[in-house]
Amino acid sequence: MKTARSPIRYPGGKGKAIRFLDAYLPSWLDRGVCSPFAGGLNFELYIASRGTPVHAYDIYKPLLALWKELKSGNRAELLAAVKQYLPMDKQKFHDIKANLDKLSGTELAAAFYVLSRTAHSGNTSNGGYVEGRLTEGNLRKLEKFVMPANLHVEEAPFWESIPLHPELALYLDPPYLLKEKLDSKMSKGLYGSKGSTHNDFDHLKLKELLDKRDNWIMSYDNHPEIIDLYRDYFIFYPSWQYGMTTERSGKSREILIVSSHVVIDMRDNFQEGWTDFIRDNCTFPKDHPLLRI
Ligand SMILES: C[S@@+](CC[C@H](N)C(=O)[O-])C[C@H]1O[C@@H](n2cnc3c(N)ncnc32)[C@H](O)[C@@H]1O
Repeated sequence: MKTARSPIRYPGGKGKAIRFLDAYLPSWLDRGVCSPFAGGLNFELYIASRGTPVHAYDIYKPLLALWKELKSGNRAELLAAVKQYLPMDKQKFHDIKANLDKLSGTELAAAFYVLSRTAHSGNTSNGGYVEGRLTEGNLRKLEKFVMPANLHVEEAPFWESIPLHPELALYLDPPYLLKEKLDSKMSKGLYGSKGSTHNDFDHLKLKELLDKRDNWIMSYDNHPEIIDLYRDYFIFYPSWQYGMTTERSGKSREILIVSSHVVIDMRDNFQEGWTDFIRDNCTFPKDHPLLRI
């Protein structure tokens, strides 16, 4: 099956990381995957196109309205609702943002789509307007977009969606820990209404849930508090970050944390030089039994 590309621009979207993440996909993913943080569904669309059933969840209603609309296949109504905003301008952009909470169904889906295309970096919470980002070409892609039948998207917070699928592997892409102080007066959050679901995200609660299960891979930001929180896990330092660049310091801006079964699966499928690979590419708990040969 050809991979459908996400029709929206979304902050933290993993479109550029697909090839990298693919290398970490262990064989057990074929049983099915739960993704508690759907967002733009970049990697989820890829996994589903390989035939794997995917159960994705999120809590942002405008985003969920769009996925629901795209799943329903009723493209004509959605396209008509989108076209009512054309030609787009800055004033309309701010009007849509101000009235988003009052919309529902197809109207909400269309308004969110327009915002995601025209907001800076797809940041519908706090991004400013960018001219020329909603083109005829985008509308044609939206019209042709086919949501894979084996990709399901529902509304649920992670503490409900994760326990729903104890038998499935997890792919997790949570909101990253904000570098700014969480009590800062300015909301810096990228997700939810005015960044609310980002600013208030409970990173400890997620860790507690993950400690209770295996078979998961998770992308996060390379933040000292996150590295410390997950110090008992294998942490890889990739460089997919938006165009494969790294920060000036030379450090990856993003990390991939993986649970034990994933590391075992990797080791079992590794041809040669496993220990060197691990030592060169990740941090891990000292004297971890998986490193003894
Ligand atoms: C980093 S984004 C996911 C990006 C996605 N992987 C992509 O490629 O576009 C994180 C997502 O988590 C969602 N989110 C925030 N808090 C949540 C919670 N408590 N439960 C479930 N989803 C949540 C946000 O709405 C956002 O869509």
